[in-house]
Amino acid sequence: MAYEIEMLNITKEFPGIKANDNVTLKVKKGSIHALLGENGAGKSTLMSILFGLYKQDEGIIKIKGEEVSIEDPNDATKLGIGMVHQHFKLVETFTVAQNIILGSEPTTKANTIDYATVNKKIKEISEQYKLEVDPTAKIEDISVGAQQRVEILKMLYRNSDILIFDEPTAVLTPQEITELMQIMRNLISEGKTIILITHKLKEIMEVADEVTVLRRGRYIDTVSIEGASERSLAELMVGREVDFQVEKPEQEAGDVVLEIKGLSVNDFRDLPAVRDLTIEVHAGEILGIAGIDGNGQDELIYALSGLSKFESGQIILNGEDISKTSIKNRTNKGLGHIPADRHKYGLILDFSLEENLIVHDYNTKRFSNAGVLANKRIRSHAEGLISEFDIRSGQGARSETRSMSGGNQQKAIIAREIDKSPSCLLVVQPTRGLDVGAIEYIHSRIVEERNNGKAILLISYELDEILALSDRIAVLSDGKITGIVKPEETNENDLGLMMAGISQEELVHA
Ligand SMILES: Nc1ncnc2c1ncn2[C@@H]1O[C@H](COP(=O)(O)OP(=O)(O)OP(=O)(O)O)[C@@H](O)[C@H]1O
Ligand SMILES: [Mg+2]
Repeated sequence: MAYEIEMLNITKEFPGIKANDNVTLKVKKGSIHALLGENGAGKSTLMSILFGLYKQDEGIIKIKGEEVSIEDPNDATKLGIGMVHQHFKLVETFTVAQNIILGSEPTTKANTIDYATVNKKIKEISEQYKLEVDPTAKIEDISVGAQQRVEILKMLYRNSDILIFDEPTAVLTPQEITELMQIMRNLISEGKTIILITHKLKEIMEVADEVTVLRRGRYIDTVSIEGASERSLAELMVGREVDFQVEKPEQEAGDVVLEIKGLSVNDFRDLPAVRDLTIEVHAGEILGIAGIDGNGQDELIYALSGLSKFESGQIILNGEDISKTSIKNRTNKGLGHIPADRHKYGLILDFSLEENLIVHDYNTKRFSNAGVLANKRIRSHAEGLISEFDIRSGQGARSETRSMSGGNQQKAIIAREIDKSPSCLLVVQPTRGLDVGAIEYIHSRIVEERNNGKAILLISYELDEILALSDRIAVLSDGKITGIVKPEETNENDLGLMMAGISQEELVHA
């Protein structure tokens, strides 16, 4: 059998941890090979070695049967290897087109960048693969989903024939995921080879040919998708049975905690994004907001958390108008926030894990004495959360946050926000990038907060998650609520229609 890629006995050590410990991965030409493992298992590290970002300590790599030395991403690009990273590597202040061509800019005779050719080629590829982008938009102004499409285009623009996708679907809508799956199938039918990292077992079952499982840096097994099931894969990965169902006891909702009254928020272009939205979240309730990415969710959260101003309306927390107060003030008044973009709004990547865990209250008596940080208390606080939330990294509390795996960064934010026990928690895409075992735990913790009488506003693009956790579901479409339903009284189909803008009344009369 011809292998397109062979990574043989790869070992890579970081301070305090063997991220890859004698791992072997063999990928057949023209196949989709999934890489599965818990958060921190070593998947991104292995792919970073293949893409030349890290050099293995031991082991060899063969491409098309020939041993190669991949010293940097340029070597990888020359070998036809492209990668879409888990956390995008885009230049925020550049346009979409500038990012796509970065490092391989075609020039005109006058030695300027040949934008005519660039825009034409980008347009062709984006139409061919249905990856809609505006080549002239700046990265910092477009949604996470659109940024992902730019990363994919970047790779296709370079004609790579080995394509590495590190969690490409974490930020896509269900429709976009279906399209991406189709794109992947088209790509392999043209002879390309794909390595796919995803925590979504459904996707692996749907699109992959084979799957290699890693656990804590070690190789566990490579199995064919034929004969496998979501359950069997989950067990192989975690090493125990996984409970896919969330336990949620019946509970009466209490008083209103968060009141949003006639809220209108504009987007960065100053166009209406949230339109006269009114909604209440009660104590002991999880209010889920269902909707397709880009229908006002970001703007709603920016306004609620204090990250941006808004046009009109009121935000009332525990009876007090917080509309015009600072982020800090809102945090102190009992508003917690688990943000969608963990790098931009959730963590300070150059800080250690323990420092990130106290960013809200480093200046309180809990963690400082007369203006001097109380290092012992900070350390033991971190160690408590690390064990409670199973945050895995090389050097524990002292780990640099940037070096931690994506899923473990996410667990750190959740640990910090839940630990503060705010009376109202804004939760956006909480389990993005988490493995099935971690999702099981985080879901149970969110439900526990609700059981303890906290008001939870949950925004998620995954209907499964919305349906599993919410007590009530508000459907958001084009900045307006098209319906408020109970999960047991609705279904994915009706939710889908409301997400597309059809109101609850219209549904009933249809
Ligand atoms: N540059 C680095 N410096 C120090 N430690 C690192 C570095 N990169 C990765 N690690 C550590 O290596 C381990 C494997 O990380 P990796 O990112 O490969 O995990 P992963 O399987 O991709 O996890 P996830 O599903 O959460 O993305 C983690 O414990 C991480 O903290
Ligand atoms: Mg990773």
